[in-house]
Amino acid sequence: MCGIIGVVGSSDTLKILLEGLSRLEYRGYDSAGVALAGAGETWRARTADGTESVAALVEACREAPAHYRAGLGHTRWATHGAPEAVNAHPHFDCSGTVALIHNGIIENHRELREELESRGHQFTSVTDSEVVAHLVEELRHESYELAEALRRALERVRGAFAIAVMDATEPDVIVAARRISPLVVGTAPGVTYLASDVPAILDRATHFYAVDDDEIVRLSPEGFSARGLDGSPVRLRQLAIDWDLETAEKSGYDDFMTKEIEEQPQAVAQTLLDRRDGEGRIVFDELRISDEELRDVRRVVLVAAGTSLHAAHVAKYAIERWARVSVDVDIASEYRYRDPVVEIGTLVIGVSQSGETIDTIQAMREAQRRGARVVAVTNIVDSSIAREADAVVYTRAGLEVSVASTKAYVAQVCALELFALRLAQIRGTLDAPEIERVWGELLVVPERIATALARRDSYASVAAQLLDATTYFYLGRHLGFTTALEGALKLKEISYLHAEGYAGGELKHGPLALIEPGVVVVAITTDPAMREKILSNVAEVKARGASVVAVASDDDETTEAVADFVLRVPSGDPMTSPMVDIVPLQLLAYSLARGMGRNVDRPRNLAKTVTVE
Ligand code: G6P
Repeated sequence: MCGIIGVVGSSDTLKILLEGLSRLEYRGYDSAGVALAGAGETWRARTADGTESVAALVEACREAPAHYRAGLGHTRWATHGAPEAVNAHPHFDCSGTVALIHNGIIENHRELREELESRGHQFTSVTDSEVVAHLVEELRHESYELAEALRRALERVRGAFAIAVMDATEPDVIVAARRISPLVVGTAPGVTYLASDVPAILDRATHFYAVDDDEIVRLSPEGFSARGLDGSPVRLRQLAIDWDLETAEKSGYDDFMTKEIEEQPQAVAQTLLDRRDGEGRIVFDELRISDEELRDVRRVVLVAAGTSLHAAHVAKYAIERWARVSVDVDIASEYRYRDPVVEIGTLVIGVSQSGETIDTIQAMREAQRRGARVVAVTNIVDSSIAREADAVVYTRAGLEVSVASTKAYVAQVCALELFALRLAQIRGTLDAPEIERVWGELLVVPERIATALARRDSYASVAAQLLDATTYFYLGRHLGFTTALEGALKLKEISYLHAEGYAGGELKHGPLALIEPGVVVVAITTDPAMREKILSNVAEVKARGASVVAVASDDDETTEAVADFVLRVPSGDPMTSPMVDIVPLQLLAYSLARGMGRNVDRPRNLAKTVTVE
């Protein structure tokens, strides 16, 4: 999984590439590179400098030729080959005139490499991607023009790709193609762009277009032409983009994570916008499944990964309680290989912030193949899952850049709870006053989050007292359990401390053996119905020497007496509280990670969007 960018026709090629790459770093950052083409020559710089590869690339480009008007850039998350400069893209053919960038995986690269080497090709990296540069080289020698050469090369390739090539002998053309990995094209007068994602070219292009699977585009300064990889004519879909550059940048915050945590009230508020019609019905304009079909649903299966999986866990509680349908939550990467049973009336919901997580895409495809109706819940309009699903519900969190998901999570929980409410309404399992009450509870969530955010200093002061701890257990019951899972994930992702989330009832089945002085237990005690039980767990761990941090609601008068530290949150309906209770845990993780000197936006070894299995 990587970020790619290309530009043709500009006199500012290098600047465009480097700025674009810095906005694509959330796709990977263990190495980076650019290539420029002009006057029959190619110039290239590549760096591998941990999380600072793009910054190092800026330095490495100080001597770059200024007048080249075509260029490709790449930021890499290594899959094949170590994160070293030689494996960084762009890759060249033997002569160094063809340059190539690739996001995805060429599955049959070994056999292609052997074949190409037997014909005398010299490889300089151990990546899977480089084979395509050499395949294009051969086809160019057979006099195919660049687009046809890439199209024919890709006929030989199995796997996933967003791929782009240029040839210094034809420096006013870039050709790009897509299968599975995302690719967009942007245009402005006299300049044409490509990128993995819109933010990379947001401030440059005026019009944006989505390249779909198995399509190939030829870019020139005047614009682009597209066709299918099978040669058929296609028309790229224009994208309606309402982001501004401000959204794509940090807006003055120290890091994206802080900005995104602070944006959570808006993320929920926007996800709630326009969701009720004049008669009080919950509506989703983008949901293309009829009320009749929803009424007949017999089973719901949610598939997701990472933080989205935790939002899916929340949805299970909401859908079962409100709509009285049985719900399973499945790890997306496990679902498709399990020979899953899909009975008539199964509705599968894929939850993915990016809409591009390969495991979630594949799980949804598997469900579709087996006859399920499939709904996507995603933050990215026109993302892969949005396009492939039978219906889609958009979260409206806005662009999320930090690798650790925050605002997208609360927006997912909100969208899924709305969906649960809609199911309940259609199926008649909640009466009108109860729907009205839950709707009212959802409407006050942004305010509750804002109140929690205003307490950021008190949360930070608790974190400051925990800086020596290295092991954390998060405990919760009912929806507090889902918050425990997500709270632990946040800490582990950005601090690299050992943190696990458990259902309180599981404490005695293993984790209790690990409790000793120095261990921190974070207990979520906000649900009055669960409080007594979770406080028993607190007593059990305290008796064994653990320090206890409790997430407690303002109206709770019992927790304070037993916990060492209390993170207060505004009281409210426990069913909507996962969106509120997670806030102090995000900020606790953030403060601990910052206190340890971590790069919170770009944790080591992780990436925002996981487009390989
Ligand atoms: C990666 C990200 C997580 C995210 C997960 C699923 O692990 O670092 O923040 O929750 O992928 O991503 P998705 O885009 O499918 O929600």
